[in-house]
Amino acid sequence: MLSSISSLVTLALVLIPTSVQAHCSIALLKQVTDRYVAAQTAGDVSGLNFSSTGVYTENFQPADIATGILSQSLKIDNAHSIHDTSECSTFTQLVVTDPTHPYVIGTQIRLPSHGGGGEIAKVETLVTDQGDWLFNATGTLYWTQRENWYEIPKDQQDSRETLRKAADAYLNKFTDNTVRVPFHFPCARLEGGIYTGTGSDTDTCDVGFPTGIPMLNRRYVIDQAYGAINVMFNFGGPTHSPDSHLFRLEKSGIRYVHTMTVLKCNDLPEAPCNA
Ligand SMILES: *[C@@H]1O[C@H](CO)[C@@H](O)[C@H](O)[C@H]1NC(C)=O
Ligand SMILES: *[C@@H]1O[C@H](CO)[C@@H](O)[C@H](O)[C@H]1NC(C)=O
Repeated sequence: MLSSISSLVTLALVLIPTSVQAHCSIALLKQVTDRYVAAQTAGDVSGLNFSSTGVYTENFQPADIATGILSQSLKIDNAHSIHDTSECSTFTQLVVTDPTHPYVIGTQIRLPSHGGGGEIAKVETLVTDQGDWLFNATGTLYWTQRENWYEIPKDQQDSRETLRKAADAYLNKFTDNTVRVPFHFPCARLEGGIYTGTGSDTDTCDVGFPTGIPMLNRRYVIDQAYGAINVMFNFGGPTHSPDSHLFRLEKSGIRYVHTMTVLKCNDLPEAPCNA
């Protein structure tokens, strides 16, 4: 009996993969984000390979992909994508400074976990524009372009767990100020279009956190090659403001944070909109 238990344990240990298996190729995921950017540029989703049973949301509300933001042709100034080969998902940040209607858009895309042939199962988009908390597309573009999100050498890449724990620590700090967040030094926060740093070597992200703000319903996209993790969640309560935080880690510490919050100042007079 004992020996059969121990051989079962041995078998289980052998079956546990030493590293997480990639379920989708990076080539397939890059094709997905390229097609997404092309679709938004053209205002035409026909090239996206969105499943007929796929789920589409805008600002966390069910919406029609055929008539939503993707049906508008936008002049994109900057597109930044990350790719999660383990979970077959992607995240893209789009910046549009076109003065007729500036936008900063964040989108998570999910394929079936086996990857399939690239048919998209889910698209979740956050659309921020004038009046949203700290919105300033010109500022977002300016700071985004000054940052360096280089590919991290394989032997220096952080694990998925390290990336996720760092993002969770940061988000948990808004309810528990005793949480220790692993910050890199320097570190900068791009919140809407506002930068906490100056782009210099002395920038710090440890500039204080408000408390009493739960970040709920978190959905992650993790890209180890770039030390990047995106989290979408409700900011402040179970059905509160749709929010996206994009983190970049270097040497296991948070180097950059980009935030996008769907929160019109007029909807919530107490929001610190005039920061
Ligand atoms: C779209 O997805 C289907 C199902 O996975 C796949 O067979 C097809 O090759 C894909 N089409 C394109 C153009 O990628
Ligand atoms: C937006 O950001 C740009 C670049 O940082 C800055 O010059 C501009 O004053 C900002 N606009 C507003 C309304 O804050």
